[in-house]
Amino acid sequence: MTNEEIENLVNITDIVSLVSQYVNLEKQGKNYQGLCPFHNEKTPSFVVSPDKKIFKCFGCGKAGGPIKFIEEIEQVGYKEALHKLADFNGIKLSDTYKKKEDPNKRLYDLMNASKDFYKMYLNKTKEGLNAIKYLEDRGLTKEIIEDFSIGLSPDFGDNLYKMLSEMGFKELDMFDAGLIEKDKNGKIYDLFSNRIMFPIFNEFGNVVAYSARIYKESKDKKDHKYINSRETVIFKKGEVLFNFDKAKLSINKMHRVILHEGQMDVIASNKAGFTEAVCTLGTSLSKAHVDKLSKLTKSVVICYDGDFAGRNASVKAIKLFESYGFDIHLVLLPDGLDPDDYIKKYGIEKYKEYFNNNQIDKDRYLFNVLFFDKNLNDSNVLKALMNDAFELIASFNSMVEEERYLDELSKRINASIDAIKNDYANFKKTYWPAPQKAIVEKEEKKPKPISTKKFNSICEFRIIKYAQRSKVLALQIDEAISNSMDGMSQETQELWTELIYSYYENFETFDEGRFINMISEECMNHYMYLNEELKKDITKYNDDDLELCVEKIKSISRRISNKRLKEIAKNSADITEKSRLTDQIISNRRRKK
Ligand code: UTP
Ligand code: MN
Repeated sequence: MTNEEIENLVNITDIVSLVSQYVNLEKQGKNYQGLCPFHNEKTPSFVVSPDKKIFKCFGCGKAGGPIKFIEEIEQVGYKEALHKLADFNGIKLSDTYKKKEDPNKRLYDLMNASKDFYKMYLNKTKEGLNAIKYLEDRGLTKEIIEDFSIGLSPDFGDNLYKMLSEMGFKELDMFDAGLIEKDKNGKIYDLFSNRIMFPIFNEFGNVVAYSARIYKESKDKKDHKYINSRETVIFKKGEVLFNFDKAKLSINKMHRVILHEGQMDVIASNKAGFTEAVCTLGTSLSKAHVDKLSKLTKSVVICYDGDFAGRNASVKAIKLFESYGFDIHLVLLPDGLDPDDYIKKYGIEKYKEYFNNNQIDKDRYLFNVLFFDKNLNDSNVLKALMNDAFELIASFNSMVEEERYLDELSKRINASIDAIKNDYANFKKTYWPAPQKAIVEKEEKKPKPISTKKFNSICEFRIIKYAQRSKVLALQIDEAISNSMDGMSQETQELWTELIYSYYENFETFDEGRFINMISEECMNHYMYLNEELKKDITKYNDDDLELCVEKIKSISRRISNKRLKEIAKNSADITEKSRLTDQIISNRRRKK
């Protein structure tokens, strides 16, 4: 395809109707305006100009023409976007511009053929009637079965293998795709047998795997309810989300994603009109999953099962979404029900109502979860709970919330508010906030490069934080770095000296107010500055990390002293002095090993 062709393609594009597929646009004079699909916003700053055929967001700065828009919104490359734009305009690209063949196309074709086979088996056989009855009993209509391309695998044997072989597919590819297996005698059999087949599509609509469910009493009691395809070249469990390909558009439109635990819940949720629902596939939520979602939205509603496992998984999911700056809400269904159970029991309308009216923010959820299944009469349990609650409340970083939740805590555990406040004040003396909370920012900003002038490494301040935990730990760290103090900036060295030799000389536990009061103004400014810098730091504080931080200071110190020695060696005329210094540099390096 020539540049001319591309130009023509852009020229014939009606950018307003292209963008309208994803964004609700309203006319504003010559231009159109709407909520930006690329970042979270409440007032529209996303503008489309039909004359210039461009879009621009005055909030996040994303801008470009139709091709760029498709690249961004569909998360595809330039070529793929060109093809999509051609499709949109209903024109064919010239032959010179053939799409590059996907190296995995063989596997996609194979998986696609297997999907057609399973569908056919569900819809055209006597066995299929039983399976359809099972699905219909579970509330799945013919349309849903078709929409999700649900199929059925035959009971034992090698039906799929034979059919695919006849179609010319290679045995090796069938192994690679996880469709067949060999028994002890070397006989090939279909891996999935007698199960309802839910195909899993990747984000571009290719079948990459299956989740397969038992649908009638199994002869084998040990049989798993679901089995999922094993990982293959085209199926990475930690990356794929069920229904993501279809949900993409709705996620864009609704400015949120709904996360469920299982595919039956996603399907049930779809029935209720929540088409922006996805779930993982028998694995817990991963960074890669959240990363993928964060490109489309920064808002999530987590609606897992209401049981113990579901609550645990929710807490983990919250932490992950938090680290990506998501706006997080949760729906907790009553009596341990999952969405599918709930709809079965109360119907679609009630579910919609419940889902829409019972979303709670993540702070509230995390607080409520603390009390589940806890025997508050056991004083050990109570102490642990109070500590957890205090930690959580402190992390909210808001006096108003603090007051509100302390009040509620006192009621829940039946203690006076004065007693609670007193314990909380004591708790705060030794507490300092987990830094990962602080980086959560609503709007994405380019991270500012950390200034290297004022400190050598973020580790130097993290070490100060560690030293605030207890005097014992502080003295241990001091011993570890006492020969490497120059690995920290001048200012931090002074701060450290104040902390160890003035403060801890006089006090047993750390109190920030007291500390700040006794140090010089310069030291305090530096302390504040480092505190600010640390807000961007998301690394967890733990013993392993402390070791790493100490190591880092030491290595900076070694580097500095090597540099100095080299300078001296270079300038030194004395040969023996020179070789002595070189030896020292080498031994410094060894120390590192
Ligand atoms: P659930 O046990 O909550 O199943 O597992 P479900 O979604 O309610 O399914 P139904 O309603 O009984 O049909 C949640 C998810 O965990 C995975 C599946 O992906 C399932 O959707 N799972 C569950 C497995 O991988 N293997 C199993 O044996 C069970
Ligand atoms: Mn269920």
